[in-house]
Amino acid sequence: MERKIEEQESNTTLLGAVTSEQNGRTGSVLLDYLKCAAVGLKIDNINRSFGDNHVLRGVNLNIEPGETVVILGKSGSGKSVLMRHIIGLECPDTGRIFVAGEDINDPEFKRNHVLAMVFQSSALFNSLTVSENVALYLREHKIFTEESRIKEIVSSALEIVGLQGKEDEMPSEISGGMKRRVAVARALVMNPEVILFDEPTAGLDPMMTRTIGDLICDLKHQIQITQIVVTHDIDLAFYVADRIAILSEGRILEVGTPDQIRSSTNSGVIDFIKPQFA
Ligand SMILES: Nc1ncnc2c1ncn2[C@@H]1O[C@H](COP(=O)(O)OP(=O)(O)O)[C@@H](O)[C@H]1O
Ligand SMILES: [Mg+2]
Repeated sequence: MERKIEEQESNTTLLGAVTSEQNGRTGSVLLDYLKCAAVGLKIDNINRSFGDNHVLRGVNLNIEPGETVVILGKSGSGKSVLMRHIIGLECPDTGRIFVAGEDINDPEFKRNHVLAMVFQSSALFNSLTVSENVALYLREHKIFTEESRIKEIVSSALEIVGLQGKEDEMPSEISGGMKRRVAVARALVMNPEVILFDEPTAGLDPMMTRTIGDLICDLKHQIQITQIVVTHDIDLAFYVADRIAILSEGRILEVGTPDQIRSSTNSGVIDFIKPQFA
């Protein structure tokens, strides 16, 4: 089926469309495969400096299983640094991060848990097709022995992000918004317990921003997966979040539901979100 994704109506709910008619459509294949129980996450007093630049200054945050939490902060506030710590790419100077009660820096952790990250750059391999990019984790980790099963899961993931039929395209042939959605599909096939998004709407036009926002909402409602979104996009934060955490000067200034944040009396929070609601 030919679909011009970039021209879709902005309110299309991609995953919702798939799950509403599961009889035989491939989108449900991935939903059946994604059967992880939701897990919680605890960030416990993380500190991290680069030389004399003390970027994270005692970050504390609890995320409930199945919750979508947006960490909102200005450019340079340490959002990407925090993400790299949560995914285990970097270690804190002090403090610990727990997923499902286990310290992510314990040697055993990576054997028992999978966290997936959608990078700001999408980080696709340019020499691989869209489907090869999405299948890479399944092949490298020998998740399935049958090629037909890999193909089925990859097609299903691409359908969920609204990119069915794009399997054989190269990253250079698709738009920035599509690349971002290929990166989401690649994260989903990892069957992660937590999915992290670093600036998922950066550089996208308003319509594609809405599509990515809808996709994050759909993942929340249909898979109940724990999601952490870091962004400076205030509209996106209020659109997708169960709770918003404001990161400022290396600390979480305030955490609350969108309504609580909107009515906050904290001057730092007011200064940050005021331009949006003035
Ligand atoms: N690998 C690094 N080495 C030195 N400084 C870094 C490194 N990564 C990030 N920083 C610094 O940490 C601060 C926060 O960066 P970052 O997390 O990328 O901000 P953002 O909130 O925009 O994602 C910046 O001052 C940045 O220069
Ligand atoms: Mg960043």
